[in-house]
Amino acid sequence: MSPSHKIKVEGREIQAPDGMILLRALEKNGIYLDNYCDGQGVCGRCRVKFVSAAPEFYDKETLRLSQNDLKTGIRLCCYHRVESDLEITIPVLPPGDRKKYFDSQILGEDLLE
Ligand code: FES
Repeated sequence: MSPSHKIKVEGREIQAPDGMILLRALEKNGIYLDNYCDGQGVCGRCRVKFVSAAPEFYDKETLRLSQNDLKTGIRLCCYHRVESDLEITIPVLPPGDRKKYFDSQILGEDLLE
């Protein structure tokens, strides 16, 4: 049986099995982020801020997160697996993000290129 890890998030403490994608671990515990790509790494809406040490970011995250976001521990949780106990918060997103995502879909832009 794989070990599980504690995740502290917004005053709650939940458990997730080792290796589970963080987005799925949150969803499994009833915490749904307002994302539009269901974990495909495209919409940039699954932002969490690490209070505990943030994992290294992936190059593709730089398309959706600013250097300041990355420096302050913000990551896209669909990219990261739960590999230790951790603590995160869920930042409030700017309202324009939803429009940007839908505009790019209408125009057929691939957000990952
Ligand atoms: S869920 Fe869309 S980028 Fe993570």
